[in-house]
Amino acid sequence: MKAIIFGITGQDGSYLAELLLKRDYDVVGVTRRVSIDTTKRIAHILPKIKIVEGDITDAFNINKIIEEHQPDEIYNLAAQSHVGTSFSQPSLTWDVTASGVLNILEAIRYSPRKEDIKFYQASSSEMFGKNYTEIIEPIFGKSSQKYQDENTAFLPQSPYAIAKLAAHHLVRNYRDAYGIFACSGILFNHESERRGENFVTRKITKWIGEFVAWMNYHNINSEKLATVDKDEVYIPGRTDKSQGFQFPKLRLGNLEARRDWGHAKDYVQAMWLMLQRQEPDDYVVATGQTHSVKEFLKVAFESVDIENWERYVVIDPEFYRAAEVDYLLGLPQKAKTLLGWSPKISFKQLAEAMVDHDVEEAKLRRPSVQTV
Ligand code: NAP
Ligand code: GDD
Repeated sequence: MKAIIFGITGQDGSYLAELLLKRDYDVVGVTRRVSIDTTKRIAHILPKIKIVEGDITDAFNINKIIEEHQPDEIYNLAAQSHVGTSFSQPSLTWDVTASGVLNILEAIRYSPRKEDIKFYQASSSEMFGKNYTEIIEPIFGKSSQKYQDENTAFLPQSPYAIAKLAAHHLVRNYRDAYGIFACSGILFNHESERRGENFVTRKITKWIGEFVAWMNYHNINSEKLATVDKDEVYIPGRTDKSQGFQFPKLRLGNLEARRDWGHAKDYVQAMWLMLQRQEPDDYVVATGQTHSVKEFLKVAFESVDIENWERYVVIDPEFYRAAEVDYLLGLPQKAKTLLGWSPKISFKQLAEAMVDHDVEEAKLRRPSVQTV
């Protein structure tokens, strides 16, 4: 079997490539021409995959790649995937996240191998935006009666979500109109040790890693720090800023937002499973639990024995969004029943794994303990 992955250098692309290699696929990964190396996440498997240069906004290029490599499966994970950025770069977001998908679908439509190609599109829970389904009887114990599933109407809140929704409808339309085996996975937030550093979970765990390394370097613990300063924590009595006795607080936006967070490793399994079915379809992929950004902060800080995360966080309006998605909780019943899929890694395990990873990584960047 041969698969093409668009977006192989991203978080999901790297895990999916690992999964396909384990299953003996020939993996072709499409990467953009950029001025620096973007293959950090796939460095360990590079010798086993074929890398080709391409950009999904270039229809001719995409067509050529698909014709040349004759894939059995195509996974489109490429996108301008940051919701906040989509407000400042809506046009680019549209070109990549919506039009790019059309380019791939058109290439499949006119391919002489159309019948032999299965296509996966990375749709998003952001498409639900402000909407949810509400039921009278609790279905998740006491936690909530509001959820999103395949029957919930979409109400997108950002240029990113609108572009994803356009792509989602294109996939459905090309499936119905031209008989293409095309599936969309409506994936809720999934994170990992490889998550992009400007998404909220990784931003938090990266900060914790650096902070722990800084405390170790100065041989102190968090109780010894003063936090009266608005923007920094510092070591009392040591005020010479040039000596690094202060550390900038973590700057975040809306902490009340709730997300259904899972681990990316679990979620790429669902992508593959969708393409192994007899018939193409769309599936919600989620954990069925929702947590606020505040709850993530608490679990992440507690995993390094710091109780009062509030002392270290500054609310910065720069990170607020023009329109927000307040609540996401996915009901993955269809994926469970038809794909036999369920997530293995819990919210707490996810947060702890990310913190552990970033603590270790920061250690490598800092010199060893300095006694003060
Ligand atoms: P990511 O880490 O941001 O990766 C995005 C990938 O797209 C990168 O490989 C990037 O390449 C590539 N890309 C961007 N523009 C491109 C272009 N014009 N042509 C070709 N490739 C391009 O995203 P992710 O978290 O892995 O998510 C994978 C997909 O799932 C995305 O489509 C995302 O929108 C969607 N999704 C993600 C989540 C989530 O919680 N992670 C949830 C639902 C849906 P560079 O390395 O060169 O930038
Ligand atoms: N990024 C970021 N940075 N988000 C923050 C911050 C901050 O400093 N402070 C608070 N937040 C809030 C955001 O406002 C949002 O409500 C929530 O944290 C999660 O933000 P992100 O981690 O950026 O993810 P997202 O939910 O907007 O989008 C991710 O999930 C989607 C699926 O629901 C991305 O991976 C999308 O590509 C994906 O489709």
